[in-house]
Amino acid sequence: MASTVAIEGLNHWYGRGANRRQVLQSVGLTIEPGEVVLLTGPSGCGKTTLLTLIGALRKVQEGQVCVLGQPLNAAGRGARQRLRRRIGMIFQGHNLLRCLTAEQNVQMGADLLKDRSYLARRDLSRQWLREVGLGDHLNKLPHDLSGGQKQRVAIARALAAHPQLLLADEPTAALDSTTGREVVDLLKRLAREQACSVLMVTHDPRILDVADRLVRMEDGRLFCSVG
Ligand SMILES: Nc1ncnc2c1ncn2[C@@H]1O[C@H](COP(=O)(O)OP(=O)(O)OP(=O)(O)O)[C@@H](O)[C@H]1O
Ligand SMILES: [Mg+2]
Repeated sequence: MASTVAIEGLNHWYGRGANRRQVLQSVGLTIEPGEVVLLTGPSGCGKTTLLTLIGALRKVQEGQVCVLGQPLNAAGRGARQRLRRRIGMIFQGHNLLRCLTAEQNVQMGADLLKDRSYLARRDLSRQWLREVGLGDHLNKLPHDLSGGQKQRVAIARALAAHPQLLLADEPTAALDSTTGREVVDLLKRLAREQACSVLMVTHDPRILDVADRLVRMEDGRLFCSVG
């Protein structure tokens, strides 16, 4: 089976002219189907930048990036949009729609499954919310949920779309250790059951054991972690 993510010689810069600064340097990374890779590294080293490039949210400037079989270097807007529908993304800040309930927010993810009926997608949304421990909060608006609960709604929304790749930027940052553990175990189970690959940024040393592989970033360079 082809790799889910294949990156070679990836360089990235921000800014122009005298302000131009390189934030990714010769990054190489391969992620196989069903593999859970954890990415650690100090603040500002380039982790989120790498995730947004893999998620086709940002244009590749230099290097080879191939995600779910789609080369991103020359990909146009349409191809990047189609690819994004196959990727689940959980980013810092929850990006929930404020006027929709928890259930409706998750249903936005489930609605990407075009072959399911409305009722099936609604049931799926409720099921994912129960999985993340929010079965009693289906009808609440984001405003009435805690930070950790909002984070879990965002996770349920990403999982409800049955992604083949999940990109998660510190998904447990706003969670207490028990809930964080549960969420990470859930991501791991999804990876196994659906052959979904997971790339997760984390500073949380308590969850490192879920990783099939640890990689570390420093000053825009990626290293294989030891131990
Ligand atoms: N849109 C942007 N324009 C200019 N510089 C940026 C932009 N986004 C990020 N940067 C800079 O690029 C570097 C890498 O940022 P990035 O967000 O990838 O770091 P990070 O590893 O995710 O950090 P953190 O752990 O704090 O989230 C930082 O120095 C940041 O200030
Ligand atoms: Mg970041």
